[in-house]
Amino acid sequence: MTSTHTPIWRATVLTLFPEMFPGPLGISLAGRALASGLWTLEARDIRASATDRHRSVDDTPAGGGPGMVLRADVLAAAIDATGLPQDHPRLVMSPRGRPLTQARVAELAAGPGPLIVCGRFEGIDQRVIDARGLEEVSIGDYVLSGGEIAAMTVIDACVRLLPGVMGKLESGTDESFSDGLLEYPQYTRPQIFEDRGIPEVLASGDHAKVAKWRRAEAERLTESRRPDLWAARPIAPESGKKRKPPKITTDG
Ligand code: ADE
Repeated sequence: MTSTHTPIWRATVLTLFPEMFPGPLGISLAGRALASGLWTLEARDIRASATDRHRSVDDTPAGGGPGMVLRADVLAAAIDATGLPQDHPRLVMSPRGRPLTQARVAELAAGPGPLIVCGRFEGIDQRVIDARGLEEVSIGDYVLSGGEIAAMTVIDACVRLLPGVMGKLESGTDESFSDGLLEYPQYTRPQIFEDRGIPEVLASGDHAKVAKWRRAEAERLTESRRPDLWAARPIAPESGKKRKPPKITTDG
């Protein structure tokens, strides 16, 4: 036992469909870690904070238009009822949020664990986003029917980084994105699959040559598939010199 006590990483989800959780987070790597107490998950029903006799959580948009908007008063009450200390980041999943990155995932995993609000309907009253300081987060440029699957994505990406969750220490860092590159291709047995062999270098036993080949493949894939990542990579390939830092835009 050590004298410094790290609290268990705690994910709190506010949703109209708490029965969706843990869902896939209860299975495999995240599920085993959940069962063994390496993290905790609480899915809370936003509707429990509704006050009228119909338990309504949404209303028509001010100014007109289609769909329904999640009410500020109900959601604010649901957030406050969690009793979570201020140091827990407060996220709201939204396709108009800042795109999730591995860097943000690593920060969230290093903290006490986020509160994540899942939107439904056309949106959430802007006043609760402002008043409770919610960070809008998107998992990609496509629209889901609600924030729950997006919230699971955030949690899954964080949980696998928690201490003790992944078996091999390096499997969390030697992978896509952590060094700004996509992952190199992998091969295993059989030696020949439908007339296709395995790159010779991988059977050479020369670890330096293997590492060099993998790095080159990672760079080739990143440059061709993700020119955005390629342009923003922190280190110039081969030279080992720092590149000019990419321009940061501050328009949002
Ligand atoms: N809710 C609906 N679509 C979403 C997306 N792409 N990211 C995060 N939350 C969402």
